[in-house]
Amino acid sequence: MDVKVFGVVGGGTMGNGIVHVAAQSGFQVILCEVDEALCKKALATIDKNLQRGVDKGKMGAEEKSAILGRIKTTTRLEDLAEADIVVEAVVENFDVKKAIFQKLDASCKASAVLASNTSSISITKLAATTRRPGRVIGMHFMNPVPVMQLVEVIRGIATEDAVLEDVMALSKTMGKVPVEVNDYPGFVSNRVLMPMINEAVYCLMEGVGTPEAIDTVMKLGMNHPMGPLTLADLIGLDTCLFILNVLHEGLGDPKYRPCPLLVKMVDAGFLGRKTGRGFYKY
Ligand code: CAA
Repeated sequence: MDVKVFGVVGGGTMGNGIVHVAAQSGFQVILCEVDEALCKKALATIDKNLQRGVDKGKMGAEEKSAILGRIKTTTRLEDLAEADIVVEAVVENFDVKKAIFQKLDASCKASAVLASNTSSISITKLAATTRRPGRVIGMHFMNPVPVMQLVEVIRGIATEDAVLEDVMALSKTMGKVPVEVNDYPGFVSNRVLMPMINEAVYCLMEGVGTPEAIDTVMKLGMNHPMGPLTLADLIGLDTCLFILNVLHEGLGDPKYRPCPLLVKMVDAGFLGRKTGRGFYKY
């Protein structure tokens, strides 16, 4: 796959990171968001994150301008018609993603690969909503995207071998380390990560320790860069709950049942960093 134009749908936490890394890798990037204000917000975040590199002397101001110059924004999915690959990074809602995949399928060229950055929605099910299931794949970046090395590449039941190889190679071009996994609930990343976060919330609910104690045990005892409750606040408690529900329903094992305290915090709107309050206050 010869990628010149790289499309991204959604400029939120994950989407703006994907745009950032794609533009930094030399691709012409088109970001599609629902309105102009969200396009501007995504560009401002990318600008701020690129500036970190400039301030530390890792990148010149000219390079930063060149990267920003490769990014165009639009509010129309039809404007992604020229893209060689489109990565969807919108809200974790199957119906919303389905509508986007069907529109992309109708407007993108037949050779384009349609990828999803979903953290747990079935790639096979998304692919089946299009007329090109062989060219649909999961490209799951980690937060913060410019920093984290991994891309979990998820092969749906119909994903063609050539598409898988192309996306593995593309991820390497973007400076990432791709790992191929099969399409089951939570893939590998969240199948392993979310039960740990959920167990940390149970420890808090049952009074085994304070948030600081639980996080410090995992940070200093297991060398995790962040404790599980701090990480949950970074990911978003609503996202953690959503993924746990996907694991619980998809695998049918009660060991994945979300902790009632996590449910209560989401009901309260305490979603983590993005709302200023989660297990910690920001
Ligand atoms: N954009 C660009 N650069 C960023 C950044 C961002 N959003 N956030 C941090 N950085 C850079 C900093 O500038 C710094 O760069 P230098 O090394 O060049 O100085 C570097 O990253 C480290 O940042 P800090 O020094 O500020 O802080 P830190 O050392 O504590 O690292 C962290 C921050 C990288 C986020 C680290 O705490 C970490 O790795 N945490 C765990 C993250 C994790 O587990 N992510 C996966 C979440 S799960 C997921 O995403 C998938 C899902 O489906 C839920």
